[in-house]
Amino acid sequence: MSGLFRALGRKVLFSLDPEDAHGLSIKALKSGLVPACAAHNDPALRVAIAGLSFPNPLGMAAGYDKNAEVPDALLRLGFGFAEVGTLTPLPQSGNPKPRIFRLVEDSAVINRLGFNNEGHDAALRRLSARRVHAGIVGVNIGANKDAIDRVADYVAGIRKFHAVASYFTVNISSPNTPGLRDLQARDSLRELLGKVLDARDAQPGVRRPVFLKIAPDLPEAGLDDIAAEIALHPLDGLIISNTTLSRAGLKSGKNRRETGGLSGAPLFERSTIVLAKMRQRVGAELPLIGVGGVESAATAIAKIRAGADLVQLYTSMIYHGPGLAGEIVKGLSAAMKRDQISTIAALRDCDVSDWAEKVLPA
Ligand SMILES: Cc1cc2nc3c(=O)[nH]c(=O)nc-3n(C[C@H](O)[C@H](O)[C@H](O)COP(=O)(O)O)c2cc1C
Repeated sequence: MSGLFRALGRKVLFSLDPEDAHGLSIKALKSGLVPACAAHNDPALRVAIAGLSFPNPLGMAAGYDKNAEVPDALLRLGFGFAEVGTLTPLPQSGNPKPRIFRLVEDSAVINRLGFNNEGHDAALRRLSARRVHAGIVGVNIGANKDAIDRVADYVAGIRKFHAVASYFTVNISSPNTPGLRDLQARDSLRELLGKVLDARDAQPGVRRPVFLKIAPDLPEAGLDDIAAEIALHPLDGLIISNTTLSRAGLKSGKNRRETGGLSGAPLFERSTIVLAKMRQRVGAELPLIGVGGVESAATAIAKIRAGADLVQLYTSMIYHGPGLAGEIVKGLSAAMKRDQISTIAALRDCDVSDWAEKVLPA
């Protein structure tokens, strides 16, 4: 599948504007044209965290399926879980186009979409209409650009999607909504987590886990503040990380000066260092989800060894196609058999100190 994509699909998709190519890929998934990955149920890949049982540790990161159009098709590609969103209460169009740029020589992307999405109601309709509610589908929530009370937008997300979300991600780390990342500052975070988690706890029925998604551009003191603040709240985990503002080490001449968040291979090192630094700060109990530059079984394993319970990817699927998730999952099984490792949990944290000691690229 990835071979066919590399030979044909990528050529066609890369001849289009990146956002049009993305739209086409969503259409293809919706239509069922993309073949599902053969079911691969290896008990060694199961991960139980935050009260959920994940069939494997690889998830689709937020931003691919912003409007919850194809979560089940993503699960059929082999992902162990899919995250939809970011969703804001009201629909919004985002920043002017063009706003996604490929950096081909770096296997990277810069985006400045700005939370374009169809809003809560449209996504809720789709998630409620899912025929099978099997599989883990998380809902990533955000705030409208012109919201007067941003915290209220997150609280509205919890209330709206509580019945249909396997888990929530509170996204305060997109670089493309001015001021959003300020919610990572300690006083703002206190108010946000207090209100969001109170809203979650007030919902009837199942307790939905809430994860907080952070930026990879925080200084050490910012990481300290986040760790100290989350210790005071019943948060269920951290997702590390969103895209970076750094442009360190890029090879591509084209598009490197575009504003926005950088994702893909050049983010791997930075996001893995921040992951390990956070693992050291929060201790062994808090679930961490590692995101940024995962493109193979080896990079997924590196994140797990650096402290992640689960990993997610997005940009590598742009470069390697829809067969990638299935390939990574199979590769994880093979690597674990080869090294006689019986659970993903046994891999976790093996290299935390090595990664945490590294210096972040400038
Ligand atoms: C085009 C694009 C759109 C994205 N939109 C969102 C989003 O809406 N919400 C979010 O939390 N992250 C979003 N992200 C960030 C990804 O979820 C992920 O954290 C980041 O891209 C790093 O992973 P990767 O290197 O595997 O792409 C987006 C990324 C890309 C490339």
